[in-house]
Amino acid sequence: MAFPCFALRFYAQSMSEETLWQKQSRNNPQQAKNYIQAFATLRTAGKDLHGEARFVDALLQRNARVLDAGCGTGRVGGELARRSHRVTGIDLDVELLTQAREDFPDSRWVHQDLSTFELNDNDLEPEVFEAIICTGNVLPFLAPGTSEAVVQNLARHLAEDGRLVIGFSLEKTYSLIQFEKDLEAAQLGFVARFSTWDMREFSEDSDFIVALLSRNAH
Ligand SMILES: C[S@@+](CC[C@H](N)C(=O)[O-])C[C@H]1O[C@@H](n2cnc3c(N)ncnc32)[C@H](O)[C@@H]1O
Repeated sequence: MAFPCFALRFYAQSMSEETLWQKQSRNNPQQAKNYIQAFATLRTAGKDLHGEARFVDALLQRNARVLDAGCGTGRVGGELARRSHRVTGIDLDVELLTQAREDFPDSRWVHQDLSTFELNDNDLEPEVFEAIICTGNVLPFLAPGTSEAVVQNLARHLAEDGRLVIGFSLEKTYSLIQFEKDLEAAQLGFVARFSTWDMREFSEDSDFIVALLSRNAH
């Protein structure tokens, strides 16, 4: 007997490896609340929280399709929606997604695993985006061993001339060497790399990378 598609997806997700973010939440159930509170405190203190959104916005025509992969509270995707883009966010943390839906009700917030997610258009082809973004250390919080599948899945949902923008700390578990391997496997290449969201130069001493990526030319 054939399984309906939703049953297969449910099965795949229920079999997903625990992400490092989920593991941290298991050890500290206050993690999501603290994350939400930390940004609320920074906002109240008048801190500039939109460096990532400005960087991405500068790459795009108006009304572009943007996928915020590992969106958390939607703080970056929501700001891009405010700047007129059509935003979809994906995350596994229900508490953070609830906050995203509350703060940015006009965008689409989806509960799926980045290593297995599928968004399809009306012809059941992968839905594609002019920009896919991973901000705030999404890759270092994936389940161990899933980064290649995640990067390939992101590439599958990237428009032909789309841009993938990934920023993460190089001081955590996910290394630059692994990142470069994952990009090669997904046939993605660097357009540019920086050490900060305001585009400071990247060097071998940098502890953070902002990678601007596109499909490799064939
Ligand atoms: C540090 S938070 C960053 C959230 C947001 N991008 C930001 O900049 O505020 C990392 C996020 O990655 C998400 N994440 C990690 N692995 C994931 C996976 N396999 N699928 C979906 N989301 C994942 C976590 O649930 C968490 O919300």
